[in-house]
Amino acid sequence: MSGHGERYAVCARVVLIGFMGSGKSTVGRRLASLLDWDFVDFDEEIERRTGKSVPEIFRDEGEAAFRSLEAEITDDLAGLEGVVLAPGGGWITQPELLEELGPGTLAVWLRVTPEEAARRTARDEARRPLLAGPDSMERVRRLMERREPLYQLADEVVDVDGREPGEIAREIAMMMQGWA
Ligand code: S3P
Repeated sequence: MSGHGERYAVCARVVLIGFMGSGKSTVGRRLASLLDWDFVDFDEEIERRTGKSVPEIFRDEGEAAFRSLEAEITDDLAGLEGVVLAPGGGWITQPELLEELGPGTLAVWLRVTPEEAARRTARDEARRPLLAGPDSMERVRRLMERREPLYQLADEVVDVDGREPGEIAREIAMMMQGWA
């Protein structure tokens, strides 16, 4: 991994990036509790702020409006210390947001295979407007392929297929020690 910026003396925050179904929210929650840090799930925060669900925002206002909300939240959280952030899988399509979080950000890519992502998201496709509709496996493949170079901006990568969230969280906590 080339990393997205300068290393910093301490790890001030962790951002988990990766495709839908990679486990960002579950792992993020576990990691935050392990570290006794705060945790922010971007989709939840967007729903709280707007009073609408993510699919409603996509349906009524479109994807661009949703991306603006992600940017707005990033702006509000930038520079915070002692926090684990779990943005949605498309947050990285505005890669400048990663820089905006500030020095001391450890970005970890939770890498999931298309098969596993499709399997995990099949349960609640209705919550994920970009995967809804026929042939979601093909959508997963195409979208993942397009986004892969962006996920590679992360400092570290963890393969998540077949692994427990708690184990992944512990691995990231170890990484943080080596990273600082
Ligand atoms: C999206 C991922 C979703 C949610 C929205 C768009 C994406 O979050 O933000 O449906 O573009 O990949 P999860 O990655 O938590 O499913």
